[in-house]
Amino acid sequence: MKKKLAAIAMATAMAASLAACSSKPAETTAAAEENEETTAEAAEGSEAAEAGDSAFAGKTLVMSTNAEFAPYEYHDGNDIVGIDVDIANAICEDMGASLEITDVAFDSIIPEVQSGKADFAAAGMTVTEDRQTQVDFSDTYATGVQSVIVTEDSDIKSLDDLKGKQIGVQQGTTGDLYSTDDFGEESVQRFSKGADAVQALSTGKIDAVIIDNKPAQVFVDENDGLKLLETPYAEEEYAIAVKKGNTELLDAINASIANLEESGKLDEIVAKYITAE
Ligand code: ARG
Repeated sequence: MKKKLAAIAMATAMAASLAACSSKPAETTAAAEENEETTAEAAEGSEAAEAGDSAFAGKTLVMSTNAEFAPYEYHDGNDIVGIDVDIANAICEDMGASLEITDVAFDSIIPEVQSGKADFAAAGMTVTEDRQTQVDFSDTYATGVQSVIVTEDSDIKSLDDLKGKQIGVQQGTTGDLYSTDDFGEESVQRFSKGADAVQALSTGKIDAVIIDNKPAQVFVDENDGLKLLETPYAEEEYAIAVKKGNTELLDAINASIANLEESGKLDEIVAKYITAE
């Protein structure tokens, strides 16, 4: 447990120092406001010229996320860090663009992309058929597995045992959608953050939490008395979302994802936040 947390802390420190020396650092909204002038100047300056062939050179791209989902996106002091943040930074760097992050409720992310408030979303977001009717997804960059957290002394040993129990989920996530389908509305309790669902489990208010495996592992490591069921609930693919029809941005994102995969940088980013299992 300690080891994993230490690794995350170290990764965070590395991310912070990388951002600090990068010419186009990730910015949280607050930081972005302070730096608006700098960004504007950079757009006119040499950086734009350098990445002159990109339609996004010198621009600021807004990424919508919900930073309650370590190790993909989470708060570290005033910063938002994590795998998705590093990936988004690398994508923006490829385009010669700057990154600004807005942190919203998970179920506000798609509306932000649809309305154009955000240019894209990176939020450990699963590609689902329904979401595909609302936004366009990039190529997938990670696999997620919906997992079940229970207390160590729980009588829930298998997925079947979840019938008739109270299941906590983060509102609007696939954990919410699938468990509502499978176990019924009356069995599902929705929380705005996964951490709140886990808190309810720890204090005996609910019987299980269904959430993606990597955040689930972080929650189990950080909270005594919890464990993961060995049977995974559902497997899925994560991708970045853009507004429907924004092929220019989607193509650029896909080209960057391919670069990150080929160069081994994607594995490096993941390894920074997740210790070998
Ligand atoms: N993969 C799940 C989904 O797409 C959960 C994602 C939650 N992400 C977050 N940043 N809170 O529904």
